[in-house]
Amino acid sequence: MIKIVTDIRGMQEQCDTLRKKGKTLVLIPTMGYLHDGHLSLIREGRKRGDFLVVSIFVNPTQFGPREDFKAYPRDLKRDVELIKPEKVDAVFYPDAQEIYGHGFQTSVRLSKLPKYLCGRSRPIHFTGVATIVAKLFNIVRPHVALFGQKDFQQLLVIRQMVKDLNFDIEIVGVPTVREPEGLAMSSRNAYLTAEQRPAAQSLFQSLEEAKKQVLSGETDAAKIIQSASERIRAYMEAVIDYIIVCDPETLEPMEHITKPALMALAVKIGNTRLIDNMMLLPESGADPNPGR
Ligand code: PAJ
Repeated sequence: MIKIVTDIRGMQEQCDTLRKKGKTLVLIPTMGYLHDGHLSLIREGRKRGDFLVVSIFVNPTQFGPREDFKAYPRDLKRDVELIKPEKVDAVFYPDAQEIYGHGFQTSVRLSKLPKYLCGRSRPIHFTGVATIVAKLFNIVRPHVALFGQKDFQQLLVIRQMVKDLNFDIEIVGVPTVREPEGLAMSSRNAYLTAEQRPAAQSLFQSLEEAKKQVLSGETDAAKIIQSASERIRAYMEAVIDYIIVCDPETLEPMEHITKPALMALAVKIGNTRLIDNMMLLPESGADPNPGR
C-alpha cells in the first residue's frame, strides 16, 4: 500500500526522520491525472534515491482567472492505481487549505525568465509555480527533484530559483514522453476530442519539420517559424499563442540559428492550450562565419 500523506507536518516529520538516517530523498511534483510522462519521471527518480515522494496538488495560484483550474482533471484513485507498480514510497496529497490557509502572503517571483514564452500570456503562472515548488522543497527537503523538459521554461525557472535561493537540491530534467504519433503527453490531452487530435499532432510535426530544415542548413529563424505556423494554421481549430526560436538558457529570441536553439510553441486547440518544444541543432557547430 502506498502511503498517502495529506498534512504538511506529517510529511515533514517522516522526511526528517529518513534524512537523519542517511536516506536520499527524491521528490516529483505533479498536479496528478498521471500519464506516461509522469511515470518516466518516477522511474528516473526511483534510480536516484531511497525514498521517493510524488506530490499531487492542483495548484490554484498558477492558474489565471480565465484558465482551467476548475476543469483540470483530478482522480486520486486512478493515480494511485497507476503508480502502484512503480514503488513510490509516499504520495503527498494536501488540499488548498493545508497549503495556502492560515493567512498566506509570500510568493517567489522571478524577474526575467517569466517575461518570455508562456509567461507572456500567463503573467502570474510562474510565480505560482515557483512558490508552490519552493514550499514543496521546504516540506520534503529532497536531495533530488525531477522535472520534465516538456515544460522547458518551468524547468529553467526551477533551476534559477534553486540557484538564487540556495536550495541544496539537485534538479534533474527528463526528456519529453510522447504518444506514438508524436503528441507530447499531457494531462490536458484528456480534453481533446477525436476530431481535434490531428490539429494537436501538428505541433510535433512542425517541430520535427523545423529540426530537419535546420539540419539541412536553414539558419533563418523567421523562415522556420513561418513554415511551422503555416502547418499549424492549416487546422481551423488551432490558434497559435506563440512559436519562437530562442536561446535555451535565457529564452531570448534568436534570429539566426548558428548554435543550438530551442524551438517552443503554445497553441490552443479549441479550449485546450498545448505546449511543446524541441532543440534545433545546426549541422556546423557554433561558428556562423567559418574561415573568418
Ligand atoms: P504537471 O503538469 O502534472 O507535470 C508534472 C511534471 O511532469 C512536470 O515536471 C512536467 O514537466 C512533467 N511532464 C509532464 N508531461 C510530460 C511529458 N510528456 N514528458 C515528460 N515529463 C512530463 O508541471 C506541473 O505539473 C506543475 O506546474 C508543478 C511543477 C507540479 C507545480 O505545480
